[in-house]
This record gives sequence, C-alpha cells and structure tokens, in this order.
Amino acid sequence: MATPDTAAPFTFAHQPHPSPMAADVRAEILANPGFGTAFSDHMVSVSYDEGKGWHSAEVVPYGPIPLDPAAAVLHYAQEIFEGLKAYRLADGGIALFRPEANAARFNASAERLAMPVLPEGLFVQAVEELVKADKDWFPTVEGGSLYLRPFMFASEAFLGVRPSKKYKFLVIASPAGNYFKSGAPAVSLWVSDYSRAAPGGTGAAKCGGNYAASLVPTAEAFSRGHDQVLFLDAVERKWIEELGGMNLFFVMADGSLVTPPLGGTILPGITRESLIKLAREEGLAVREERYSLAQWQADATSGALIETFACGTAAVVTPVGKVTSASDSFVIGSGGPGQITQKLRSRLVAIQRGEAADTHGWVHRIG
Ligand code: PLP
Ligand code: COI
Repeated sequence: MATPDTAAPFTFAHQPHPSPMAADVRAEILANPGFGTAFSDHMVSVSYDEGKGWHSAEVVPYGPIPLDPAAAVLHYAQEIFEGLKAYRLADGGIALFRPEANAARFNASAERLAMPVLPEGLFVQAVEELVKADKDWFPTVEGGSLYLRPFMFASEAFLGVRPSKKYKFLVIASPAGNYFKSGAPAVSLWVSDYSRAAPGGTGAAKCGGNYAASLVPTAEAFSRGHDQVLFLDAVERKWIEELGGMNLFFVMADGSLVTPPLGGTILPGITRESLIKLAREEGLAVREERYSLAQWQADATSGALIETFACGTAAVVTPVGKVTSASDSFVIGSGGPGQITQKLRSRLVAIQRGEAADTHGWVHRIG
C-alpha cells in the first residue's frame, strides 16, 4: 500500500512505455506540431483520498484512464487545470517558465472549486518528471515548446452534490507550435454578447467549467471568421475583461500600457504579470485599470491607441488587428503587429529560451 507523500522530493514510480512512438512518426509531428493534437509517450498520475492525502505518484504510459460513470467530475464539473511550457534553451538545456506560479494558481483554483491543495513541490516535481521522461518530444519547429497540462478532477463515484472525497492529479505533455492556425500577423476578435464570468463566480479560477461556458461564444467567433472571442464585464457590459484563453494589453500613443485589473472575474495570467514587470523595466508606464469597449474604439479611431495585444502561455504575445461586435468593427493601428508588442514579445521569449539574462528567477532549469 502506497504511503502519503507530504514533502519534496516525492517518490515517483516509473513505468516506461513498452512501445513508445516510432522515431520517424514522432519526428514528423515535431516538425509541425500545431497546438494540442499530439501527446507524448508518458503521463503523470497522483491520487488523493480524504484522510490519506496525496499518494501513488507515478509516471506511466500515456493512455486512457479508468473512470467510474458516477465520478463526480462527469456530473458536477469539479475540475481544474494549468498550462505551462518547457523550452529547449540556447545552450541545449531544458527549462520551465515560472512553474511555481502555476502551482500557486492551481491551488487558488483548487480552493475555489472545493478541492484539496497539492503541495507546490509535488506539482513542480510532477511536471519535471514528465519532461525528463519525454525529453525527446521537443518540437524542432522555430518557436516550438513542450506544452504541459497539469489537471485535477473529482473521481469519487457519488451523485450527491458535495465536494468529492477522491481526486486524481494528472499531467500530460503536448508538443506545441503556433496556437493560432491562421498564421495571420495579427488576430481578429469577436466581442461576445455572452458573459464569461460574474462577480462572485469562478472567473479567476482555471476550471474547465469556465471554458465550457465559453464554447458557444467561441464557436460564434469562429463561424464569423474571427480568431478569438472577447468578453465584456457581466454587470455593466461595457468594460473589457479578457479573451477566451488570453489576457489583453492596450498600448497608447504615448507608449504607456493599460490592462484590465484583476477583480476576480478574469484569470490572473502569468504572462500578463511577467509582461507588466518587463514593460516597467523598459521604462513604460503600465496601468491596471478598467478600459471600456467604447473608449477602445474611440482611441483606436483617433490614434490615441496604437496597438493591442493578447498574451498567454499558449498564445505568447499575439497582436490584435481587428475588433468586431454585433454593431461595429474597427482596426487597431495598421492592422498588423506594432513595435511595442514586438519588443515585449522578444524580451519575454528571449528570457524563456535562455537567450537573455533571467534577472527575476523565472527560468526553472531541469536539465
Ligand atoms: N485568460 C484565460 C481565460 C486563459 O485561459 C489564459 C491561459 O492560460 C490566460 C488568460 C493567460 O494566462 P497565462 O499567461 O498564465 O497562460
Ligand atoms: C494556456 O495558455 O495555457 C491556456 O490554457 C489557454 C488555452 C489553451 C485554454
């Protein structure tokens, strides 16, 4: 019987894949990985039982997981996840970007969803164990990385509505290239009439339910030819919140930046926080303050606003070129990537890939 793990380093059992993917098939995937469609040979699994805690940490072959049809997650969506990337560094090493920040946000999400917290060291070690096991899965394409998806779900077979007494924590890895398929230099946004999150809700948590609620508006955006959906606040329906899977920054003509504040209804993005620091280091003023759709349109039209960009782990830093709502449409700047957007993107990517000094301790080397 496995004993509960409470302190780092945790003990992981390793069960190597008996028939990992053939090297030529893998090489083909790694040359053109896209986003979220291919998965590496292994995954991490850790179990939780009330009264026992976290136990049975293991690295096992990637594959289907047994799940009772009554598992609470299938009925009441008690599930949270994270997204972070491992990079091949300029010197051939491997590093994660700010995994401790993902571990902390994972636990904030866990608390909001009435789930047990996971020792931060266990979260980080689980990700490290998987990256080490699947170190041959780094894309060869320019800008590629290994996207890690840690997640936790309620596995107890019980239909009463109360927090589950059993959970699984898993980590899977997916080689990643560009998040956006279009390959366009700047993305197009659709302003949704649907709300993503309301005050007092789960908007600040990274739970699957938030994304389920965003799928109809996202499908609407896609069917109208846009790349991402933009959500306004649920109360006044005028303040810009965030995109389906990214935070937003607005660049003013004076070089200052504005980004919506963290008020509990948007995800506290780790890329967002990192960019605020980098922009301030560049001497740019950054204001975390509310910005309305009407003001955005007026500023883009008058030239008071020159750039807008989306940011997130998957999207990195992506310029926004055009914004469309049910009643209006406007273009940002020239409709293509702006200079400040490109500069901040380059700064961030250079740190993530070990090409610039890591003065913040963000780069977590694992090999
Ligand atoms: N907002 C939403 C809704 C997201 O899904 C994400 C992606 O994780 C972000 C923002 C950006 O967060 P991060 O920079 O931590 O990836
Ligand atoms: C990420 O950037 O990690 C995300 O989770 C965004 C999206 C893929 C859901």
